[in-house]
Amino acid sequence: MSEKPSPLARNPLDMIAGAHAVQVQMCDTMERIADGLPDEVDRRLCAEVASCLQFDLPLHHHDEEEGLFPLLRARATPEDGVDKILERLASEHESDNDFASEIAEALEALGQGGRPANPEMLGYMLRGFFERYRRHVHWENQLVMPLARLRLTQEDLNTLLARMNENRRQAS
Ligand SMILES: [Fe+2]
Ligand SMILES: [Fe+2]
Repeated sequence: MSEKPSPLARNPLDMIAGAHAVQVQMCDTMERIADGLPDEVDRRLCAEVASCLQFDLPLHHHDEEEGLFPLLRARATPEDGVDKILERLASEHESDNDFASEIAEALEALGQGGRPANPEMLGYMLRGFFERYRRHVHWENQLVMPLARLRLTQEDLNTLLARMNENRRQAS
């Protein structure tokens, strides 16, 4: 039996757009941390970014790969030409997850009052990550989200919301 969506249910595309806005802020914070290395770092911000990288990012990537991207692939017309870009974005998720957990570990140590073992290397990793991730979010905001708002049906949105809720249940 399919549940009727409550009129108060949130639009899952707004939730994804909200996550992108948070990610842009996270990238700015990472830049601030990189600029302050090795001594002028705000430890609270390091801990916040570490948790975002470790928990929020992989969850968001699941939402896109298991929810948004397949739904969009099914609805898009050949002229939309999104297959290649979705494939590219999904492969970026994979490498970003690996980098994110490596950086999160280093930032967590900083957050707990440690000193970076190799500040140059950490700065390099941070810059590489936030520059790439800003581009990633930019393409999703420019290409994927407008097309999703155009093509996904109400039923698709219900499916997406259910998928996202399930991802959160599994993660908790
Ligand atoms: Fe993504
Ligand atoms: Fe995204």
